Amino acid sequence: MAKYNYDKKVLKGLTPFPFLGEVKARNAAIAAAPAILPKSVYNANILGRRLHPAVQHCRIQKVVDHGDAKSFTLIPDRDRGTEALAYFRASQYVSVALNIDGAIVHKPYTIRSGPREALGSEGSYTLTIKRTQPAYASAWILEHWQEGDAVDISGPLGDFYYQDLRDAKHVIAIAGGSGITPFYSMAQAIVDGVEDFDLTILYGSRKADGILLKEEIEEVAARSSGRVRVVHVLSDEEQPRYEHGFITAELIQKYAPVGPYSVFMCGPKAMYVFGEAQCKRLGLPKRLYRMEMSGDYMGVVNNPDYPKDQIGKQYSLTVLIRGEKTQIPCKADESLLWALEKAGIKAPAHCRSGECGWCHSRLVKGQVYIPAEADGRRLGDIKFNWIHPCVSFPLSDIELEIFPTAD
Ligand code: FES
Repeated sequence: MAKYNYDKKVLKGLTPFPFLGEVKARNAAIAAAPAILPKSVYNANILGRRLHPAVQHCRIQKVVDHGDAKSFTLIPDRDRGTEALAYFRASQYVSVALNIDGAIVHKPYTIRSGPREALGSEGSYTLTIKRTQPAYASAWILEHWQEGDAVDISGPLGDFYYQDLRDAKHVIAIAGGSGITPFYSMAQAIVDGVEDFDLTILYGSRKADGILLKEEIEEVAARSSGRVRVVHVLSDEEQPRYEHGFITAELIQKYAPVGPYSVFMCGPKAMYVFGEAQCKRLGLPKRLYRMEMSGDYMGVVNNPDYPKDQIGKQYSLTVLIRGEKTQIPCKADESLLWALEKAGIKAPAHCRSGECGWCHSRLVKGQVYIPAEADGRRLGDIKFNWIHPCVSFPLSDIELEIFPTAD
């Protein structure tokens, strides 16, 4: 049997000698080079900065009042260095930097407009912000933001967008209140030819006269050649041409296509608990239903595994930033992030729900409660005591090292 399975003759002409001088030649070239880095601008870096800017400086171009919500159109503020807004995937959010009476707060809000509207130097984002209960940042924004105001936002974030490798070609969207905003963006993207799937929105509201963006979303659906459908579901009144009650498995089935479909949910936590139960009743595999998770983790004390003897307690939080310590109070039922913000400490945060990892901090001392469904830590984080303060609630006095970013 032949020892080699290739023709050795072709290697005969090869010799290592030409390579022996390579190291010497390279060292000589390095020694002769100037001691400054060459100025190179790589397209990949330019694109990376365009798509993922740390901060986008904007101005409010237009405000539309919807009653207990407002829509704000944001455009790039060239005077402050933002030439164009970053492109995004329909349903992504930006986190808005706010200074509310000395509290430094970052709040995530979905970009309600379609991605195509962000393109070019005249591009814009529209955020529709509804007054939430308990009202804090949303109330402050609705009362303070005016046309012409300067606003700083993050780059687009979040992964609650359509992914054709995983999601079915037909999406049933379950929306509650301002949870319509990501689906509005998806609907607009379908109309613009940016996304390619069919969308049926089951839109839950209390009463017909309180439906946020009702005319606007119906107008987008009317331009979609049948690819976007909106079904209004009223919980507190019966009206002809509206569905009544909750968004149950039966209702989903009534509007679902014959073939496979995915279910996307955006709305309050109670809606997720109910919606997930309906998806399980329908026998949907986990990969075919999901929820938008950005926003404050609410109602921690109602979790079955939350230690109820903590309710009403207050602890001390020692914050370590670049070797300097500051002591502030923190309540057991409020996240560590919230305690930092109230104390005017510029803590890094975007999603506020344990998802993005931006607030990643080191727990030096103390015990915290972390809700299982919001625990986005990796095994290494758990082993070396790294936590997400946005979803960590104190069970004792705490010492925490945080790492504020420059922006
Ligand atoms: S702000 Fe996103 S994980 Fe805490």
